[in-house]
Amino acid sequence: MADVKQLIDAALEAQAKAYAPYSNHPVGAALLTSDGKVVAGCNVENAAYPLSFCAEANAIGNMIMQGANQIKHIVIAGPGTHVCTPCGGCRQQIREFAGQAGAPVTIVDHKGTVLLETTSAELLPHSFGPENLSE
Ligand code: THU
Repeated sequence: MADVKQLIDAALEAQAKAYAPYSNHPVGAALLTSDGKVVAGCNVENAAYPLSFCAEANAIGNMIMQGANQIKHIVIAGPGTHVCTPCGGCRQQIREFAGQAGAPVTIVDHKGTVLLETTSAELLPHSFGPENLSE
């Protein structure tokens, strides 16, 4: 099972691949899945700015492509020293695969220093998920 250091390294490696020429805000995300896989993603921007993809969403897409669908831990690496917390849309996407109880979320800076340790449930309280859909 991967430890946090491995996840941080994977998030930093992904961040180095970010395509963020418009915001200059490269982000990397690495997920540990319930079957022990480490999958990563980076943000990918576009000249039509609103069409950009977040690192977390791309990591989730990679996770699904690898046949996994349960997030056990997510590490997000942002640039500089500001805490790069996931945007609202990404919180919802993480919630889908971390479940109602949530999973640990660790935010690091571009050097891998831990800036915040929280959980997906804390980031999105009273969340809406599959359990809230009526039949
Ligand atoms: N970004 C992410 O990749 N994840 C987030 O949760 C917050 C924002 C990206 C999107 C955009 O490419 C850049 O950071 C600036 O918003």
